[in-house]
Amino acid sequence: MTSATKTRAACLIGWPAAHSRSPLIHHYWLRTLGLEGGYVIEAVPPEDFKDFLFRLSLRGFVGANVTIPHKEQALALSAPDARARAIGAANTLWFVDGELRSTNTDVEGFINNLDACAPGWDRTEDALVLGAGGASRAVVFGLIERGIARVHLVNRTIDRARALADQFGARVHPATWDTVGELLPRAGLLVNTTSLGMHGQPALEIDVGLLPQSAVVSDLVYVPLVTPLLAAAQARSLKTADGLGMLLHQAVRGFELWFGQRPQVTAELRALVEADL
Ligand code: ATR
Repeated sequence: MTSATKTRAACLIGWPAAHSRSPLIHHYWLRTLGLEGGYVIEAVPPEDFKDFLFRLSLRGFVGANVTIPHKEQALALSAPDARARAIGAANTLWFVDGELRSTNTDVEGFINNLDACAPGWDRTEDALVLGAGGASRAVVFGLIERGIARVHLVNRTIDRARALADQFGARVHPATWDTVGELLPRAGLLVNTTSLGMHGQPALEIDVGLLPQSAVVSDLVYVPLVTPLLAAAQARSLKTADGLGMLLHQAVRGFELWFGQRPQVTAELRALVEADL
């Protein structure tokens, strides 16, 4: 039994226990909003996950974030909304009249970060998304939901891009890396969802000079904070949205569901989390 029974608390369920910025983010909001509550990390192995979830409320938790490797199991063990179902993974859980509900907050994290960093980004008809993994699903879902006419989906393994396109319909166009040069000049939005450019990974070889001057560049990678892709875009005075912004914006909904107030993504919070990267 954790100290969570004493106050309203949420937790992050993952395995193995990994460093997370989520406690820092939620404690900042609790403190600045003057609310009582807590947010703790719970390391739960896959074989114990179902039992842990069934006892979530008994353990005193008002909800949870879920991370690797539990996101698919969380979807199956809760009542998911349309976003979680479309993405095939849940990352945020909460109770409504005793029923465990779930959603995937990566979609609104991605979209709200773009809205905050580059208002009007959605005036484009063409978005170019690099990568077709789990993160890409949330990005593509968000772009389609926002009404972007064409989402060009480039992936090393073309079958993954095709599978994603099949799921999301005719507005998603799978493409190979060798066509990127042709797609860049009409892309009003470029999004990197691959791990390329992440600390310790190979660089992402993209000529941002081919993008229109009105283009917005978004990178989901946040270590380093300014990836080589974002640095190149900023050198050309293109608007950018970084992965840390998405991380902060995706945390908003969970906090609101658990603690009843919608928190702000402030510069002070960004600086706090940046110092922890
Ligand atoms: P996530 O959940 O973060 O999206 P993922 O599902 O493992 O993680 O997806 C990683 C993405 O990065 C995939 O699109 C992957 O391409 P493949 O589907 O071909 O594996 C892409 N990726 C990772 N390393 C890459 C590399 N060296 N070159 C090109 N793409 C790479």
